[in-house]
Amino acid sequence: MLNQIKEKALKEIAQAKDLKQLEQIYRQYLGRKGELTMILRSLKDLSDKERKEKGQLANQAKSEIDEVIKVKRQKLSGQAGLARKKDWIDVSAPGFQPPEGYPHPISLVQRQVEEIFQSIGFSVVDGPEIENEYYNFDALNIPKDHPARDLWDTFWLKDIDRLLRTHTSPMQARYMEENQPPLRIIVPGRCFRHEATDASHDVQFYQVEGLMVGQDVSMSHFKGIVEEFLKQFFGPEVKMRLRPGYFPFTEPSFEVDAKREKGDWLELMGAGMVHQNVFKAVGYPLRKWQGFAFGVGLDRLAMVKYKIDDIRLFYSGDLRFLKQF
Ligand code: DAH
Repeated sequence: MLNQIKEKALKEIAQAKDLKQLEQIYRQYLGRKGELTMILRSLKDLSDKERKEKGQLANQAKSEIDEVIKVKRQKLSGQAGLARKKDWIDVSAPGFQPPEGYPHPISLVQRQVEEIFQSIGFSVVDGPEIENEYYNFDALNIPKDHPARDLWDTFWLKDIDRLLRTHTSPMQARYMEENQPPLRIIVPGRCFRHEATDASHDVQFYQVEGLMVGQDVSMSHFKGIVEEFLKQFFGPEVKMRLRPGYFPFTEPSFEVDAKREKGDWLELMGAGMVHQNVFKAVGYPLRKWQGFAFGVGLDRLAMVKYKIDDIRLFYSGDLRFLKQF
């Protein structure tokens, strides 16, 4: 009978397909109420002699089954590990291709502008989008109550003397306060205006400020440098024109237009010779330095370059538009 039980157990163990089945077999034979366990327990009712003989056999059978189960358990858990390994990452498999990003047309244009100006000796400087009234206006010769402030209606931050800068020009004053001429900088950045939007105006847009100051920097330097810039940016055939303009921080002031493909002129930048009051505001001695400044609309440059007729497209987040660059 013992032998029968043992043979049956060994056979079942051999056939066990997974750990669950194996543990079930263990319980059936060696568990608390297992077949072999019961036999071992019943030994106490036997005579001494019988108990000795049967006890030996039963214990042998027990340890044999125990041992075979152990070996089988190892084998099956190895297989379980292998089965799990199958789910692991196959590092040699080709990966998923995430959709590729691309620079925004404004970023593309900004990079080109920076490269061109750097190649003619200008440094690129960054400034704050949240400005205070002094740098946005006063330091630029636009005192409170001056009607020119109407040109730059903006968004004011409640309760503190801060506003969203209406142009990159405040960086002229900030930079000159910290640096002495001769200097050549450009300042690309985002600006804001509180105004109705249309095809060529938006509440946010990008500008690049330019500033060159030295002992004898003149209008002809300005014209030469801007012409060179526009040629490198649009190509040698570009047509530009200067018109008289008005800005409180330049004297004289002018506007620069570029000719569009469809034949009309688009205003690209405001410019002029830096007003002595601006030099005064930053602490330069009067009439010692002179220079030019300009503020060019990056969006405008991009519109002419890529033949875009509505500025609002830049900020629409419309992928059909953005994917074309
Ligand atoms: N800040 C002016 C604007 O946003 C543009 C401008 C005009 C900048 C003349 C200048 C300048 O540096 O000299 O309308």
